[in-house]
Amino acid sequence: MALFGKSKNNSVDVPPLVLPVHIGIIMDGNGRWAKKRGLPRKAGHSAGAKTFRKITRYCSDIGIKYLTVYAFSTENWKRPQDEVNSLMNLFKSYLEEALSDFKDDSIVVRFIGDKSHFSEDLRNLMIENEESSKDRDGMVLNIAMNYGSRDEIVRAVKNISADVKNGILSEDDINEQLVSDYLYTAGQPDPDLIIRPSGEYRISNFLLWQSAYTEFVIMNKLWPDFEKSDLDEALNIYSGRNRRYGGV
Ligand code: IPE
Ligand code: IPE
Ligand code: MG
Repeated sequence: MALFGKSKNNSVDVPPLVLPVHIGIIMDGNGRWAKKRGLPRKAGHSAGAKTFRKITRYCSDIGIKYLTVYAFSTENWKRPQDEVNSLMNLFKSYLEEALSDFKDDSIVVRFIGDKSHFSEDLRNLMIENEESSKDRDGMVLNIAMNYGSRDEIVRAVKNISADVKNGILSEDDINEQLVSDYLYTAGQPDPDLIIRPSGEYRISNFLLWQSAYTEFVIMNKLWPDFEKSDLDEALNIYSGRNRRYGGV
């Protein structure tokens, strides 16, 4: 991507892009992509997984420090069993491949969400991917799986109250920073930009606490059609935003 753009006559430099430190992506639209082609929904999920791979690599290459992708929500278990099964199989084969393909990679892989609902072999693959990448120094990739922000906040409240009860914390220690420190994203900066492909104007239980001052970019492309140039477009839009955080 051209981080230093040129004006239309290709001569004068325009200001450099302000790159977000942390990007979140709601990877949405796989089902509609498949439907448009008369294919089963699972074909859309496979195509979406390829896009995930391409865009993750691109974010790492252009210097994004944190990328959080929404892969499966706490509400997605409501889908027909055969769709859930095909998603679980896709996650499994993807994570097996990731372990061997990305051995020399610099990306740190983390899973956010409640792992306990997944099968033992999937859980083990998630842990293996986290373990084998934890000492790397590149982009942090948070994969949100069985993630729901309300669930995350309830878990944080329970853990805080347990720590108050057993004397690790006092009530006076509870502040905004402490709540952030009890979320799955503890220690990471809040997302600067959240991109939602597929044209839906909603957050669908993604990073509710963390997105208090996040910039949103909704794009009409379905996730399997999402290209590097679409990410560039979102970055350009973000770069032109005036973030005020309640100030003037
Ligand atoms: C996103 O695509 C993938 C998951 C939620 C797992 P969808 O499956 O939601 O695709 P649409 O929204 O039905 O097109
Ligand atoms: C959000 O998409 C979850 C993921 C992309 C994993 P959904 O397709 O589940 O969200 P809704 O149902 O349109 O709100
Ligand atoms: Mg959807």
